[in-house]
Formats: sequence, structure tokens, C-alpha cells
Amino acid sequence: MAARRDKLRIAVLLSGRGSNFVALADSCQRGDIFGEIVQVISDQASAAGLTRARERGLSATLVSYASFRQPDGRVDRSAFERAVLNALQDKSAEVVVLAGFMKVLSAEFVAAYAGRMLNIHPSLLPRHKGLDTHARALAAGDAEHGASVHFVTAELDGGPVILQGRLKVRPGDTAEALSARVHGLEHMIYPMVIKWMAAGRLELRGSKVQFDGAPLPSPLQLSAEDE
Ligand code: GRF
Repeated sequence: MAARRDKLRIAVLLSGRGSNFVALADSCQRGDIFGEIVQVISDQASAAGLTRARERGLSATLVSYASFRQPDGRVDRSAFERAVLNALQDKSAEVVVLAGFMKVLSAEFVAAYAGRMLNIHPSLLPRHKGLDTHARALAAGDAEHGASVHFVTAELDGGPVILQGRLKVRPGDTAEALSARVHGLEHMIYPMVIKWMAAGRLELRGSKVQFDGAPLPSPLQLSAEDE
């Protein structure tokens, strides 16, 4: 694939503190990633990630999920998603990075960014899809835990995995301790994947991840600790 002449235009969607967004923004700023964050969108007014984006002088947009609530109490999800799409298109975002975005996106929305939307999930997928992954890894007695970066498809936490960061569960680990160590891993593996994306090394073909022009037989792995 030919090298890009312009930086990859990256949008980040988040709902919370935004530590993955910060790791990504730092990598872009250092020039590790040939990309720029052109838009940060949150569905939550209180998201610390929005403030952190504004502090960096980045475009930060609130698309408040709550504001789409109808008189009958239901949220007009398609109107919410249209507003998010508009905010993405406003900045000509090429790639959408979900970084702790706590809303499930519809199949139509996912299709609009097929092969161009990524997520990070705090478990070694396909283990522990969904919430409370650290507590569930402990309850299951897992010897290993970690995080996975994957292409987003219509199946929640089910898209093809590109890279996993692994660590060993230690005796006496709590969910909080695991969460902190997994976050450390996330801040390494997410920027790595976005760097590959910006360098044109990654592609989704059908349901297969292509890396450097060849199908990945299984997700790439990074082990954080030699314990
Ligand atoms: C991370 O644990 C990520 O794996 C999950 O949401 C969390 C976001 O954390 N999808 P932060 O807001 O980036 O600190």
C-alpha cells in the first residue's frame, strides 16, 4: 500500500476519563503516529476526556445522549447516531477510535465506518465480553488477563482482534489492581494499532484482518511483564 501523504484524520469517541485518548493524543503529538486527532466526541457531559481534549486545544464535541430522550422516556437512538455521524463528517474523520465509549452502536452506524472503526476491550477476547471484565477474570480463576484491540463489527465486542496485551494474574490481585495494570497495557497497545492503521499496514477484508498485506492467522500478542 502506498504511503499516505497526509496525516490520518482520527476521531475518538469516549464516555469517561479518557486515559486511552490521552495515550493516543501523546503518540500523535510525538509523531509516533502519522495521524491527528480531529475530533473528540462524548455522549456524556461529565466525561473528563472532553475536558482533557479541550485542554489540548482539540475539537471536543458533546453529543448528549440524554438530550435525545423523548417524552415517553425512550431515547431516539437513530437521531443520536445521526448527530454523532454529523460531528464525524464535519471534521472529515477517516478512522473512528472507541476509547471507553459506553453506548452500543447500531449496525447501520458500524457499516458507515466498516473497517475504519476500532475498539479496545479490557479482556483477552473472546473471553469476558461485556462489562466487569476484571472481576470476572478473577472469579473465573484466569491465570492470564489483558486487553484486546479489535475492528468493530455489529456484534458487540465480537469484531476481529488485531492485537492483545497479556499479563499474568497475581495471587491476591483485586479487580482494581488488575484494572490499573490492564490500563497500562492498553496505553501501549492502542497507539501501536493506530500507528499501523495510519501507516496503511492494517485492513479488514471480509472478517479477516490483513497485516502488511497478508491475513493474520491469529491476533498479535504483546506480553507486558516477565514475571
Ligand atoms: C478501558 O478499560 C477500555 O478497555 C474500555 O473502557 C476503558 C476506558 O478507559 N473500553 P479510559 O476512559 O480510556 O481511561
